[in-house]
Amino acid sequence: MFGNFTYCNPTKLYFGEDSLNNLKTELQKYGNNVVLVYGGGSIRKNGIYDDVLRILTESGKNVAEISGVMPNPTLSKLRAGIEIAREHQADLLLAVGGGSVCDYSKAVSVSVNCEEDPWEKYFVRFEEPECRLVPVGCVLTMVGTGSEMNAGSVITNEETKQKIGHVFASENVMPRFTVLNPRYTMTLPEYQMVAGIYDIFNHICEQYFSGEDDNTSDYISEGLMRSVIHSSRAAVKDPQNYEARSNLMWTATWALNTLIAKGKTTDWMVHMLGQAAGGYTGATHGMTLAAVSLPYYRYIMPYGLAKFARFAENVWDIAPAGKTQEQIAAEGLAAMEDWMKEIGVVMKLSELGVSEDMLEELADRTIPLKGGYKELSRDEIIRVFRESL
Ligand code: NZQ
Ligand code: ZN
Repeated sequence: MFGNFTYCNPTKLYFGEDSLNNLKTELQKYGNNVVLVYGGGSIRKNGIYDDVLRILTESGKNVAEISGVMPNPTLSKLRAGIEIAREHQADLLLAVGGGSVCDYSKAVSVSVNCEEDPWEKYFVRFEEPECRLVPVGCVLTMVGTGSEMNAGSVITNEETKQKIGHVFASENVMPRFTVLNPRYTMTLPEYQMVAGIYDIFNHICEQYFSGEDDNTSDYISEGLMRSVIHSSRAAVKDPQNYEARSNLMWTATWALNTLIAKGKTTDWMVHMLGQAAGGYTGATHGMTLAAVSLPYYRYIMPYGLAKFARFAENVWDIAPAGKTQEQIAAEGLAAMEDWMKEIGVVMKLSELGVSEDMLEELADRTIPLKGGYKELSRDEIIRVFRESL
């Protein structure tokens, strides 16, 4: 393992069925003005809203709300939320929802006390915040993104159809605390549960498929991947399986809280391709990743053959005896394909509304990165998109 790094993750996690009981103690650390941020209404249907509001009221908080944060939150919604947080002089942004609500709250947090345009500053120039941040706390209801314990925020500019993520370097952008109750995820529609499962798996892949050194992070990644595969099968079979849902929740957090990227370069091209498609179509994040993954990995496999063979053996239990490295690696990706079909992810971009005539524009919106086994040219990006249709 090479490289120098700093590891710091200040997010305090409360995990388990009783974890919301800790919210009251956390709320005491912040001023009176709380902005409750949530999505399109799932928390009102499943009772989480009532529970959170009761605790806020009992804690004597002065509460304003930002509701209707959509999946793939938009820039205009961000601008509206910044105004609400400013008017309310927010001391805390309490995000109750999935990755979209959590990402959105971070984007509000870094913008409330900043006079510059948030899109230009954070999502075009990728600058760090110099202003005072409004702290973010999170009650997670959807598993997948890892937003509950990282400094990432993804916003979609609906006018330009660009979906751009900024992983802030500052750990101050991370939520101060997160409540993780696996029971909350049980009202998720199966489509969202499965999309989240693939998102977790792909986050690990993005950090695993790089480098040729002997790296502890890769061993941790293999264990996390095996856990996702195992628990996903149990959760698809029985969505009320608490053990499976809690393993998925915990794995999602560790898959993208910066730990397994330490000492490595990382790839993230599946996310760049998926985000381009998501910005254009508004499709569910995890499904966009699923649709482009196999064409991408099969294309880059020859450039990282040893790692793909190791993936086959250590994650998918492919027996190596009597086979070439190419055969082993290909069997690993075939096993991954079987699993993806088994849990029911979307395997084609065409099912998400992408068609051949959009590919040039999707390529324009795809940011090529250098960290993986092969830097893709524009022609190669179009080729991978075409094979994903
Ligand atoms: O809006 P509501 O009504 O709450 O419904 C949501 C939404 O429709 C629903 N949902 C959430 N919890 C539920 C529930 N429905 C019933 N019961 C529950 N308990 O699920 C739908 C999807 O929610 P969303 O928050 O959009 O999903 P996810 O957590 O996958 O977040 C996706 C966003 O996160 C970004 C994605 O790009 C996308 O914009 N990402 C953030 C990352 C990060 N911060 O590091 C990394 C990821 O790679 C990803 O890019
Ligand atoms: Zn993701």
